[in-house]
Amino acid sequence: MPETKVSREWDATRHYKNPDIAQEYDRVRFSSLPGRVFNNQEKSIIRECFSSLPRDTVVLDLPCGTGRLAETLLESGLRVHGADISDEMLAVARKRLASHGDRFTTEVTDAFKRTGGEPLFEATLCARVLMHFPLETQIEFLRGVASMTRNFVVINHSLNSPYQRFRRRIKKLLHHQRPARHPITNNEIKRLLSEAGLREIGRRRINSLISEAVYIVAEKIR
Ligand SMILES: C[S@@+](CC[C@H](N)C(=O)[O-])C[C@H]1O[C@@H](n2cnc3c(N)ncnc32)[C@H](O)[C@@H]1O
Repeated sequence: MPETKVSREWDATRHYKNPDIAQEYDRVRFSSLPGRVFNNQEKSIIRECFSSLPRDTVVLDLPCGTGRLAETLLESGLRVHGADISDEMLAVARKRLASHGDRFTTEVTDAFKRTGGEPLFEATLCARVLMHFPLETQIEFLRGVASMTRNFVVINHSLNSPYQRFRRRIKKLLHHQRPARHPITNNEIKRLLSEAGLREIGRRRINSLISEAVYIVAEKIR
């Protein structure tokens, strides 16, 4: 794993191993009114992205975090295997999703170290993590995710466009919350996907005027 590349800045692979951060993750991000609205819209997009899968398909959620989006997939009739480097985040997910019994399973894993194995899962969700890393490191992460997946990967990212850069400047002037560290341009999205062995087949946005978030459905290149 390219640890040296991330160690000079805030480190997403270590940050979420703090039990206090894990316990507070959902409250800090999604309890305000804008946070709740965004969370609901994101969940609705995730439901749509996975809607073509037959009931009971096992979806890999990597990184699963506190099970926020795993819950949406489970409620849609899918089974979920939640994987994450932080057992502290997974502990929150296990508690939250206990009522789903063995339809929800978990595993501590490091996506950077998952290359070359058997692709066990039909489809994978990879949400809210890539934008924490520089592009080269994102590629490594997504390769790990793709190596565990047979057919489809859904990622979310923060889009870097002239309009979004303008929005960021305004938000900075207004002292809004710090945005994602490594947003991505459309050209970089192409590179990220192709170097991870994936090809875009669709995308969705929440509301491009007020959010950078982009959700990409990709298939594996044969
Ligand atoms: C911002 S959270 C997102 C969690 C969830 N996908 C969501 O949308 O709520 C980022 C997660 O990435 C996990 N993570 C960071 N580095 C990882 C790695 N190398 N392998 C697996 N998970 C990792 C963290 O532990 C954390 O749970």
